[in-house]
Amino acid sequence: MKILITGTAGFIGFSLAKVLLNDGWEVVGIDNFNDYYDVKLKEDRNKILEENKNFKLYRLDISNLEELKKVFKENKFDKVCHLAAQAGVRYSIDNPYVYADANLVGFVNMINLVKDAGIKQFVYASSSSVYGDTSKVPFNEKEDVSKPISLYATTKKANELIAYTYHHLFGLKTIGLRFFTVYGPWGRPDMAIFKFAQQMSKGEEIPVYNYGKDMKRDFTYIDDIVDGIIKAIDCDYDNEVFNLGKGDPDELGEMINIIEKHMGMKAKKDLLPMQKGDVLITYSDTYKAKKMLGYNPKITLNEGIEKFVEWFKQYYNIK
Ligand SMILES: NC(=O)c1ccc[n+]([C@@H]2O[C@H](COP(=O)([O-])OP(=O)(O)OC[C@H]3O[C@@H](n4cnc5c(N)ncnc54)[C@H](O)[C@@H]3O)[C@@H](O)[C@H]2O)c1
Repeated sequence: MKILITGTAGFIGFSLAKVLLNDGWEVVGIDNFNDYYDVKLKEDRNKILEENKNFKLYRLDISNLEELKKVFKENKFDKVCHLAAQAGVRYSIDNPYVYADANLVGFVNMINLVKDAGIKQFVYASSSSVYGDTSKVPFNEKEDVSKPISLYATTKKANELIAYTYHHLFGLKTIGLRFFTVYGPWGRPDMAIFKFAQQMSKGEEIPVYNYGKDMKRDFTYIDDIVDGIIKAIDCDYDNEVFNLGKGDPDELGEMINIIEKHMGMKAKKDLLPMQKGDVLITYSDTYKAKKMLGYNPKITLNEGIEKFVEWFKQYYNIK
């Protein structure tokens, strides 16, 4: 089986590609290695994938239709998992055009080429951010999500609508996955757990928003997410959106305590007001993914942070 995964130099794409290569899949990756965060981390992930002879990388921008067409001309794919996107809620406030290019133009390029190539299914990344600042928890897929509060969230909701249209018009099977705050080894340095570990290790203050009060996130460990994506790739539904979260949010303060415990360091906290575009809580209702995909997240925040810190200390050579 041959799969196209976009965003393979990224956190989730890399983690998925690694598991599928180990399972004997042929994997074609696409990434533009942009400098939204440390490019060396992306190159290091990619080096690991390139050790496997069944991996082939195209370094290109998905908003460049002509370059993208070549990938589909040169390969025949059984499956496609589209994870490349400009991520980040806060960054989208000041950098709207990057989101328009990667998440809107890039998304249309991808889904249209998948349709033209006669590939039956299109699995893609959506986000828990589509739920906006609703206080109705847990977040259920049936909720109205027509009031996104960041441009990032808007592009992800737009992706779900475009996917529906491609299903309606062309019968393409589309599966959107709303990921909830994913973390773990080889994670994203712009996200809280990674960022806090990095700042603590340098003796810097960590920014704690909303003064550390009432902030909760449904932190979800990368292996559980990869397992959910693989189940989505294997499924045969027509047009669905699934929450992929842990289904059990943790307090920000608890997350900091656990990082301190495993890092063996104390955090210096910089208590700040709530950020624009941010929400107080994310909380995944995992019933649908459990029932329809057999998704079963297992890793607790304590276990996951322990594994993350182990990797973090080794990667950055911290004693
Ligand atoms: N990590 C999370 O908690 C989380 C939560 C919700 C949704 N998501 C979504 O999951 C997907 C993967 O996220 P991630 O955490 O691995 O992020 P990531 O930034 O680590 O990975 C995305 C990869 O896509 C690449 N990319 C970006 N724009 C591109 C373009 N125009 N052309 C080609 N490559 C491009 C980047 O270089 C990067 O390597 C994204 O769609 C993201 O929006 C992630």
